[in-house]
Amino acid sequence: MKDFIYYAPTEVVFGKESEEQVARLVKKYGGHKVLVHYGGQSAIKSGLLDKMCNLLDEAGIEYVKLGGVVPNPRLSKIYEGIDLCRKEGVDFILAVGGGSVIDSAKGIAYGVPYEGDVWDFYLGKDEAQTCLPLACVLTIPAAGSEMSEASVVTNEDGDVKLGYSNDISRPKFAIMNPCRTFTLPPYQTAAGVTDMIMHTMERYFTHDDDMILTTELAEAVMRTMMDSVFAVLKNPEDYRHRAQIMWGGSVAHNGLTGCGVADDWATHQLEHELSGMFDVTHGAGLAAVWPSWARYVYKENVSRFVRFAVNVLGVPNDFSDPEGTALKGIEAMERFYHAIGMPINIHELIGRDITDEEIKEMVRKCSRDYKATQGCFKVLHAEDMEAIYKMAK
Ligand code: NZQ
Ligand code: ZN
Repeated sequence: MKDFIYYAPTEVVFGKESEEQVARLVKKYGGHKVLVHYGGQSAIKSGLLDKMCNLLDEAGIEYVKLGGVVPNPRLSKIYEGIDLCRKEGVDFILAVGGGSVIDSAKGIAYGVPYEGDVWDFYLGKDEAQTCLPLACVLTIPAAGSEMSEASVVTNEDGDVKLGYSNDISRPKFAIMNPCRTFTLPPYQTAAGVTDMIMHTMERYFTHDDDMILTTELAEAVMRTMMDSVFAVLKNPEDYRHRAQIMWGGSVAHNGLTGCGVADDWATHQLEHELSGMFDVTHGAGLAAVWPSWARYVYKENVSRFVRFAVNVLGVPNDFSDPEGTALKGIEAMERFYHAIGMPINIHELIGRDITDEEIKEMVRKCSRDYKATQGCFKVLHAEDMEAIYKMAK
């Protein structure tokens, strides 16, 4: 078991009336001039954006707006936000949207007080010492950015998608109203649930399997998400199950399911190259890679994969054949992905065969020019990454 620090400072305000509290919370955390940051259309269409602005108006809080964040958020939008915040004297950022908007907000928050290029943080050339306070009104449960320390950004110059993690960017508060997720299309709902299950799996597939409570919590999160996703795909306005999913997305990525264990993240790193190169939905990219990663690494700790198969997916335990049980678990996971409309390989993800040149380019980026490894359940070198991408073709 590893020593650990659990740090989840975000104030979560959850439920049907949660949005009413936005102005009080902005004031509580010191906001005087707010950047209201949002995505494409969904927050405008639903009336959420207007509602947030009206509540700020009524409370006498000044704000400026910046929309247009796209999924797999772009560095250019962050530069635009930094310029706007400096010009307008913004001291607080309110992200209204999902992981992409929140991650863009984090990038802006780092960049405003920084004299250099904010991309340096993502490149690992510098560490942010300070950032503007930020918060969010979450509209899609998926990335877990509403409580996490991570921001993942795509630099259009070279289609490089990189993450930067720093506790100072954890949102001050996160408003979560499950009713706001009723309008999510089935594909985004399923991709979101895939992402949050994957955030749990990245921590679950570990060699530190003596932290019983963490393991049991992780299994409960995964089983609950798997049950609830079918309920909301059938009835998008099922509040009870939308609520499980919304809270599940945060619990899956606020560190709780990682206490005492070494986490892996190889599947995420392999996926970031896919969404960087092909601009696909992150959760769908994870589903396309995970089965191949799992078949490539399961022998490192067969009993962990057996436990996953039996406790999470209900596969009968064939005690005489642990490897067989482990592999049946991976097959069951593929059936789950298909049942919710997710791909299980790259062809299904991008709608065509990936070329060997494209794989080589992803390997180069994922291995940071052949200098870095990924993961720790099995440490992946460039040749392992290539093998997994080829298995996932
Ligand atoms: O732009 P709009 O019109 O708002 O549409 C969005 C977008 O097209 C739509 N949407 C959001 N809320 C909606 C809605 N549509 C209808 N009704 C609603 N209530 O959903 C689409 C996807 O939104 P996005 O914010 O991109 O989704 P998600 O939360 O999955 O974020 C994905 C990004 O997060 C990164 C991913 O790599 C990806 O770039 N991640 C961030 C992490 C973090 N910061 O901790 C960790 C994750 O592993 C992940 O890498
Ligand atoms: Zn993710």
